[in-house]
Amino acid sequence: MEQHNLDLTRLPKHIALIMDGNGRWAKQQGLMRVRGHEKGAKAVRQTVEACAELGIQNLTLYAFSTENWKRPKIEVETLMRLLVSSLRKELKTLQDNNISLKAVGALDLLPKSTLAELNEVIKATENNTHMNLTLALSYGSREELLYVFKKVASEVNNGRLAIDDINDDTIHKHLYTHFLPDVDLLIRTSGEQRISNFLLWQIAYAELYFTEVLWPDFRREHLVQALQNFQDRERRFGKTSEQL
Ligand code: IPE
Ligand code: IPE
Ligand code: MG
Repeated sequence: MEQHNLDLTRLPKHIALIMDGNGRWAKQQGLMRVRGHEKGAKAVRQTVEACAELGIQNLTLYAFSTENWKRPKIEVETLMRLLVSSLRKELKTLQDNNISLKAVGALDLLPKSTLAELNEVIKATENNTHMNLTLALSYGSREELLYVFKKVASEVNNGRLAIDDINDDTIHKHLYTHFLPDVDLLIRTSGEQRISNFLLWQIAYAELYFTEVLWPDFRREHLVQALQNFQDRERRFGKTSEQL
């Protein structure tokens, strides 16, 4: 890895990444949107490897939102196919780097073949311990929270939970991301400055970082820049600077 001045003892424990700008990248090159997604897959590999190398424990990638189902059928199909072929190709990278693959979202909406491939890789890497790589797939934070609220309501309903005992932890343990800590750093590429229904509960105190770089152009150096920026910030969590 190229030189950096990062303090490796102060890395975010959980990075969430909104990988945006594949379509615009393709358009700039005079290519079909699909080509942008293909190029985006390469950026994924580089980012995953860089995170593993630096020692990031949890990386969550927004790969497909509940709203993305509204895209043209041909684009959705291509994205699903690309996902399967990337999973197949990247299994070795995951194993070599001791990375455990996870997925969060309304996974039952995925095509059967996609889900089968996904589950295979999840199973094959489940005992890996160096890093959790979580794909948010068919994921929408409101859908997730509705699922949580229904679960909690049913526990109250059948007398297993008292309303007064509902707290942050109750919500956390029912989230699709229950195995992950809160997000410390949220990165979004392509210049858009919005959350687009990603991890609403989990980013309550995340540092937000927006870059103009389009996802297919995202490289290690951009990740390092984001981490450098993160380390230059003071996270106060409501306290005063003097209290820290
Ligand atoms: C992100 O790139 C990939 C997905 C949402 C699946 P986009 O496809 O949203 O690219 P733009 O935003 O149209 O450039
Ligand atoms: C968010 O990007 C979803 C993913 C990156 C998977 P979009 O491109 O779908 O978001 P909007 O429509 O610009 O908010
Ligand atoms: Mg987009």
